[in-house]
Amino acid sequence: MESSAPGKVILCGEHSVVYGYPAMAAPVMGVRCRAWVEAAASGSGLSLVAVDLGERLALRAAPPDQPLAALARLVLAHLGCEEPDAVLTVHSDLPIAGGLGSGAAVSVAAARALAGFLGVTLSPAALSALAYEVEKLHHGTPSGIDNTVIAWERPVYFVKGQPPEVLAIPAPLRLLIADSGIGAVTREAVAAVRQRREAHPAYYEARFAQIGALVSAARAAWEQQDLPTLGQLLDANQALLAEIGVSTPRLEALITAARQAGALGAKLTGSGMGGNIIALVTAEGMPAVADALRAAGAVHVWQTITE
Ligand code: PMV
Repeated sequence: MESSAPGKVILCGEHSVVYGYPAMAAPVMGVRCRAWVEAAASGSGLSLVAVDLGERLALRAAPPDQPLAALARLVLAHLGCEEPDAVLTVHSDLPIAGGLGSGAAVSVAAARALAGFLGVTLSPAALSALAYEVEKLHHGTPSGIDNTVIAWERPVYFVKGQPPEVLAIPAPLRLLIADSGIGAVTREAVAAVRQRREAHPAYYEARFAQIGALVSAARAAWEQQDLPTLGQLLDANQALLAEIGVSTPRLEALITAARQAGALGAKLTGSGMGGNIIALVTAEGMPAVADALRAAGAVHVWQTITE
């Protein structure tokens, strides 16, 4: 039984989404995590193999906070099934700690594969809810946007605690995703913003509210295919992310290189403090911006279109 799940980019609204403001995200269909389940000898129980981490462990012996084991236990409890004699293997093309949703993609792909092996097709809502429980282990206080966009595999307008709005977009966006090569630990970035917000509530609330308003405008621009306006809104979001302290000189260098090479807009994506940036480009502009990002030191550049 084989399954997969895409990566994701947050187009706008990261961090403020944790405090109830809207955000938009889109799946990155070409960069995926794969999971498969094979039957094993009777009595062997469920083994978990994370190829990229070089890890193999028995579900029975796994600690409660091991993410893949936690996911497998949640799926079995959700389905009311006994532990099967099988091997669940995951392998991801997504960078770990890169802001592209690798944790949620592993959870969704693994949940789909394990449920499929047990004869059940899980709905996007069920997959999202299961992956959200594991996101809490990774991130502490996740908004839920990663598991939502990855389980639905559609662009979403997301407000924490509300059912996601799947966006009907007339045409996909062309994005470049450039990896700064610096790992980004979402839990730490979110905790640092929370601490600073507690110390300076008015400053942070004002910026979160500006980001929230900008996300609504970006939705309208995207739906109307007004890409120059969407690009400007991404730039404005980046300025506010810098003001809340989650950008870095390395991310700024990549963003500047993309803009100077003709990107319509560019910003960090995900938690910041490292990880990836996105650049909105036209079909004609894509090669020059990709070259500029590589020249500015990006360790990997993905050319993608959102679905
Ligand atoms: O770093 P990522 O891709 O997991 O994104 C985190 C997004 C935040 O808004 C910073 C946190 C969250 O839970 O939404």
